[in-house]
Amino acid sequence: MRINIAIDGPSGSGKSSISKILSNKLGYTHLDTGSMYRAVAFACLKNNIDVKNEADIVNFIKNIKISFNDKNEILVDNENVSSLIRTNEISMLASDISAFAKVRELLVEMQKNIASKKGYILDGRDIGTVVLKDAEVKIFLTANSEVRAYRRMLQNKELGIESDFEKIKKDIEARDYQDINRKASPLKKADDAILIDASYMTIDEVVNSIIDVIEMRIKND
Ligand code: DC
Repeated sequence: MRINIAIDGPSGSGKSSISKILSNKLGYTHLDTGSMYRAVAFACLKNNIDVKNEADIVNFIKNIKISFNDKNEILVDNENVSSLIRTNEISMLASDISAFAKVRELLVEMQKNIASKKGYILDGRDIGTVVLKDAEVKIFLTANSEVRAYRRMLQNKELGIESDFEKIKKDIEARDYQDINRKASPLKKADDAILIDASYMTIDEVVNSIIDVIEMRIKND
């Protein structure tokens, strides 16, 4: 039986890495919904779209094509933007534009269509509460902001980027605040989601605990 899996949580909680590992282990497809908000933010910036104007962004989205290549990298109008959307500027801008209800509507519709075939792992902020309300497995993955900032700092170091711990922590907390407090589909644990606090867990431990949940769910059906 192929099911859909929803993984929500704040930025830097490891949703994307964990979803990628799970999708390889299970032979499922991973849809990183945050990359869609990031790609739209990036494309708006590149095309001088007023990112404070909801109607302009909505019009713009209707005229571009967002797709994924066979390596699961995101494309805007067939241009691979996957390596250009991970900057601090795009992180914050993606969070800004994701607060617009009509922007969300368009992206949520695309996400629902993609996942309708089942066998998907979607990670984001509103997957369990809005996009896949009927997902068979829902996980809310979190970690405290110190741990998330520390992990981000290590990732930056590996990329040769020097970064300031306090600044990263402040940016993470600012984005959490914005994502949790927006009116349209705020970041929130679905009532039927399982909470995993990964602050002091290894990636393997998190992956294995989610696999346990999935197996239990499939066995019980
Ligand atoms: O997961 P991420 O950090 O790549 O997401 C970037 C921003 O996009 C995040 O700050 C909030 C927004 N987002 C959202 O509102 N809903 C989603 N399903 C995924 C991301």
